[in-house]
Amino acid sequence: MTEQRYFHAQWSSRMAFILAASGSAIGLGNIWKFPYLAGENGGGAFVLVYLLCVAAIGIPIMMAETLLGRRGRQSPINTMLTLAEEAKASPDWHYAGWLGVISGFLILSYYSVIAGWATAYIFKINSALFEHINAAGSTRLFNEFKSSPVFVGLWHTLFMAATTLIASRGVSGGLERTTRFMMPALLLMLVALDFYAMNSGGFGQGVAFLFNPDFSKLTGAGVLAAMGQAFFSLGLGMGSIMVYGSYLPSHVSIARSTLVVAGADTAVALMAGLAIFPLVFANGLEPSMGPGLIFQTLPIAFGQMSGGWLFGMVFFSLVFFAAITSAVALIEPAVAFMTENLRLSRADAAIYSGIGCWFLGLASVFSFNIWSDVQMFGKTPFELVDMLTAEFMLPVGGVMVAVFAGWVMRREIAEQELELTDRRQFEIWYFLTRYVAPAGVAIIFLDAVGVL
Ligand code: PHE
Repeated sequence: MTEQRYFHAQWSSRMAFILAASGSAIGLGNIWKFPYLAGENGGGAFVLVYLLCVAAIGIPIMMAETLLGRRGRQSPINTMLTLAEEAKASPDWHYAGWLGVISGFLILSYYSVIAGWATAYIFKINSALFEHINAAGSTRLFNEFKSSPVFVGLWHTLFMAATTLIASRGVSGGLERTTRFMMPALLLMLVALDFYAMNSGGFGQGVAFLFNPDFSKLTGAGVLAAMGQAFFSLGLGMGSIMVYGSYLPSHVSIARSTLVVAGADTAVALMAGLAIFPLVFANGLEPSMGPGLIFQTLPIAFGQMSGGWLFGMVFFSLVFFAAITSAVALIEPAVAFMTENLRLSRADAAIYSGIGCWFLGLASVFSFNIWSDVQMFGKTPFELVDMLTAEFMLPVGGVMVAVFAGWVMRREIAEQELELTDRRQFEIWYFLTRYVAPAGVAIIFLDAVGVL
């Protein structure tokens, strides 16, 4: 394998890496999932655990994953194989790469369905039906929409096609250009929505819900969901950041770049929460209404603003862009692997992976309508895939990365790749990666299954 190592193209600069990595991190996880999970799990205490997980587990693993990628410079599977060889460890480590490819596939299959909803809303929000709409009306329209398998399936198909197209064009062609203008625009729109929320009449309640922790509302399952969300939102534990790291030029500081990305990701999630919960309370809605939360609350705001339809169209377009840059990251480990090991062209690799995800995604399309009764352990296929990936596969993948970087790889190599000038900073990272991250994940797992 090592003789024919395949070196990928590189990012044009540090900024390009930051943009692409934030493109991967910032997505539906921040705007759609964070608010609804916070809503379902009682708010403040969930948010606090989430922030702790980002700081103590997520950021160190993000650095570890990027550094493994840059050291190995191939798809996650081959990177792990090469690095295991370098460290004289078992080649079985490459299964960590496989786990990532599979997690990416599973996540993208349902991610595309939700992204399809957001894309459909770009066009729907323009309709007179949304003018001065109230909470009941917006809920009714959302329920009507999601109950049509054909309509939802169609948007899922379009979104997967767009993802495949961008992925087939490769690192700098597809990714860099998309993220460059999308990120700043999305931030501006969120700031505008936050201002709107400030005057909605529910701001105080919204802020209290998000930031006043009430630990009596937090269960072991809620803590697990918060940790899963930290992995999901940062885009960790499945090789995306590893592949992006593999395109990172060697002089760029991994620590600083990842801190910027994690900071931006967290800020966007909190800003989305601050836009949504005031609307929830001002309109007498329930914070715990689940995956439909943003689709039922935001249209009320757009419907009441003058020119809100235009604002709404721009907003959902930006959600589409945020989602597609994450979708491309989700499919990238599979594409990189197929181009290396199956010697397929990028375009063919993207098409095969795209079709696979599309097909799997039908199970999620149907979970909201014709298969809503098909349940295992009381969960629809969509809920099952979502939980299995975010709450199990990503944390396991992340711990493998942490254990490899902290225990298997030689310390000098990690030191050399991280290039932290201050020794203390390296010691902190090393401690978090070796002990805190693996132990933290283990404790949260055990707590959630009731062992602790
Ligand atoms: N981080 C993305 C989001 O928040 C989803 C994602 C998960 C992307 C895992 C890449 C890897 O929407």
